Amino acid sequence: MDLEKLLTGRLAPAFATVAGAPVDPVVRRSQRADFQSDAALALARRLGRPPRAVATEVLERADLADLCSAAEVSGPGFLNLTVADGALAGLVSALATDPRLGVPATSAPETVVVDYSAPNVAKEMHVGHLRSTVIGDAAARLLEWLGHRVLRANHLGDWGTPFGMLIEHLVDLGEAEAAQELSMGDLDSFYKAARTKFDADEAFRERSRLRVVALQGGDPATLRLWRLLVEQSERYFLTVYDLLDVTLTERDFHGESSYNDLLGPVVEELDRLGLLRQSDGAACVFPPGSVGRDGEPLPLIVRKSDGGYGYPATDLAAIRHRTGTLGATRLLYVVGLPQRRHFEMVYAAAAQAGWLAPPARAEHVGFGSILGPDGRMLRSRAGGSVKLVGLLEEAVARATALARERNPELGETEAAEVGRAVGIGAIKYADLSSDRHKDYVLDWERMLSLDGNTAPYLQYAYSRIRSIFRRAGVAARPEAAISLAEPAERALAFELVGFGAVVGEVAENLEFHHLTAYLSRLAAAFSAFYERCPVLRADEPVRESRLVLCDLTARVLGQGLHLLGIRTPERL
Ligand code: ARG
Repeated sequence: MDLEKLLTGRLAPAFATVAGAPVDPVVRRSQRADFQSDAALALARRLGRPPRAVATEVLERADLADLCSAAEVSGPGFLNLTVADGALAGLVSALATDPRLGVPATSAPETVVVDYSAPNVAKEMHVGHLRSTVIGDAAARLLEWLGHRVLRANHLGDWGTPFGMLIEHLVDLGEAEAAQELSMGDLDSFYKAARTKFDADEAFRERSRLRVVALQGGDPATLRLWRLLVEQSERYFLTVYDLLDVTLTERDFHGESSYNDLLGPVVEELDRLGLLRQSDGAACVFPPGSVGRDGEPLPLIVRKSDGGYGYPATDLAAIRHRTGTLGATRLLYVVGLPQRRHFEMVYAAAAQAGWLAPPARAEHVGFGSILGPDGRMLRSRAGGSVKLVGLLEEAVARATALARERNPELGETEAAEVGRAVGIGAIKYADLSSDRHKDYVLDWERMLSLDGNTAPYLQYAYSRIRSIFRRAGVAARPEAAISLAEPAERALAFELVGFGAVVGEVAENLEFHHLTAYLSRLAAAFSAFYERCPVLRADEPVRESRLVLCDLTARVLGQGLHLLGIRTPERL
């Protein structure tokens, strides 16, 4: 149990008695004491009483004796709380023997669908897919660890009109040649070549059009060629996931095509429910609350005027399938912010149709763009979009070079392993440590730096602790008595017992920068402790207590990074 919650639990009844109604004590970490509550100020205003008198009365009624060594009214009416060393030590001891490190499994497990990554067949993954993949994978890992049933949904773009031209291009190239190009990850040149022919060649355009009709009509020969394209692309995406250390597997591909048979029934059901309206020949839903600049309601086109179904229809079918068939109650969509309106409208339409009813709810886990050093959208030198694999390879190469430079004793394989863990870790951490609602600038120097809020800093802190144990040939004894006489020990203990609260909060808002900020605060508290408090040279029983603090720090850092999908090598 974390301290905010414990203290809140003690103050709340006292506040309620004084107020005659429930009051949130709003307990926060503070510089003045360990924790502070300023709820008495607002309450006093409401009661028309002097704030200090209200604060004093709350303190008199609160049962804090075993938790606090001091509880005082300060300033205009703040409550300053100093946690008793014994109470803090007790919490640290409980943590040391808890394999879950103070993060209880949820008491209300849900089925959660995490829709993430979702690249498009025969198209290169771009940096937007990187963000989706990294954030989505962290969400899946975290919720799974909390005990939810997590279904990873890789909503691959594997259906629609572009497949006419892609299949015709494949026919022109020859299957073997095309397969070769695609499995090598030459997706962009394949797509562009098809596009160029499509734009320039009338006959090719006509062939492509007929091909789409054949594909949608279920023509077996066409389906076989289509499958070839999908399989080659999937194979390539899996190599990227492997390099990225994400948990997506081939079982998680649930492409747009898999909803194809549901599209007709979905539109029919919308019609039966009276939700469809014709607009310029297209069948549309007008979800409440979505209006354009001119104040006119915006249409969600579920069937185009040519009879084809598009992206919105597929997402509606996916929602119905996820809540209805899979029994999911929480649907997460880790997709860039430009698609916000799309999801708002799809959720509203699904709610109207009864496919998204409480307790089921959908959340758009949106994110901003990755910017280049010039502060503009990240572009390749040629001006195109940056290839994700190129970015990852560059990260690994840079990190490997740095690892060799810093530690010339590393063998060839070990340097490569460290380079991979640090390079990929740095990329993922740079992403997760930025507020996802905002854009961020890709800055190699900063993300690979050993100082600051970076993966290498945390990986370094982790490996340093592990080496303390390795060099001394000792292990921490979790049952050892904990003593927290030094301020640096207390400060570290406060961070350690705060892990559960942060994880709980991030499971709700999926803002991973709060977890990264926590881990970097923890590592900083550890550094300060390690500078001031000798561990191996300390006398017993302090030595044993400090070994537990070291071990716990490594365990929390390791688990925290693991939840983010970042490796922790034993030595850097
Ligand atoms: N394939 C889409 C893209 O690349 C993302 C799909 C997101 N998921 C969804 N259910 N719409 O933009």
